[in-house]
Amino acid sequence: MRLGISTGGGDCPGLNAVIRAVVRTAILSHGWEVVGIQDGLRGLIEPDKVIPLDLQNTRGILHLGGTILGSTSSANPFNYTKETEQGVVEVDISGQVMDRAEQLGIDAMIFIGGDGTQYIAQRFSAKGMRVIGVPKTIDNDVLETDSTFGFDSAVGVAVDAIGRLHTTAESHSRVMILEVMGRDAGWIALHSGVAGGADVILLPELAWTWEGVTRKLDERRRSGSNFSIIVVAEGALLPDMGAVVMEDATAGRARRLKGVSVTIEEELRAKGYDSRATILGHLQRGGSPTPTDRLLGTRFGVHAVELAAAGRFGRMVRLNGCEVDSIELTKVAGDTKSVPADDELIRAAKAIGISFGE
Ligand code: F6P
Repeated sequence: MRLGISTGGGDCPGLNAVIRAVVRTAILSHGWEVVGIQDGLRGLIEPDKVIPLDLQNTRGILHLGGTILGSTSSANPFNYTKETEQGVVEVDISGQVMDRAEQLGIDAMIFIGGDGTQYIAQRFSAKGMRVIGVPKTIDNDVLETDSTFGFDSAVGVAVDAIGRLHTTAESHSRVMILEVMGRDAGWIALHSGVAGGADVILLPELAWTWEGVTRKLDERRRSGSNFSIIVVAEGALLPDMGAVVMEDATAGRARRLKGVSVTIEEELRAKGYDSRATILGHLQRGGSPTPTDRLLGTRFGVHAVELAAAGRFGRMVRLNGCEVDSIELTKVAGDTKSVPADDELIRAAKAIGISFGE
């Protein structure tokens, strides 16, 4: 058996742990070969982007952030953008990718990626490719898995930032607003906000009002707290204004969101609250994975190879409670996992006095 492995979409800490686990399990437990497809699926579209992976070149990568294979969010073979004389057009080159995989002697592909990548994996599976999906994203928004690796590392960075903002907020009697990633889902904001001791958390999933936010800030002032911390997901919707879009979606690329915290700062300053916004950005995606993410990535990588050994293709590895198992890709592809309004952590946060700006 020769396995191909690729990492698609935005990178996240823990990708190398999966790659290492796949390679080691394939070689040590089954005597198989593994090839790495570089730069997402671009590696099966362009020449010279396929490398053999072995015990030597995957040694010493467990603690490294990013991905040794490179990644991209803009090489979807089903909607591939091409420059032509008529301008940029979208074409379906999935057949070409299938042929290339066959020429390379790849018997099965392991696609590591977020919701977009799992959708591509499912479409290749429907075309007859033997595929296994491994979910990744700092956003934790892939359906049907309780968690994705990368999430814990991102939450750790955000919690550290909240801690740092606390001390300067208190010194200057300010309202500090921390903008964290989470385009469609507020998991990072929710978890880091609760773990960091935020006073207000604003999520894309929950509508909020300026009055709701200032009510909490005033309540804190009255109770003797001279500062407040607001954690806001980049995808949170401003009342009557919606999301703050930095760059609209283009063919093959999702829209980019950034700056909701800056508008909140401006509005609060206009209302008399000395405020400062911080955008945490890609610091959340970089750096070494936490032990939790190294463990989850390793478990996912091992399970992906075991699924291939059992001939169970068309499935995505997932965390189900405390166990790693798998689910059909058809149940995952095409949607994202949002924070439910009655999420247990939201209820716990409300019980301890955290406001969601309602
Ligand atoms: O999906 C992960 C994510 O980090 C989002 O939270 C964020 O909106 C997006 O990727 C940023 O993507 P890029 O690196 O392309 O700007």
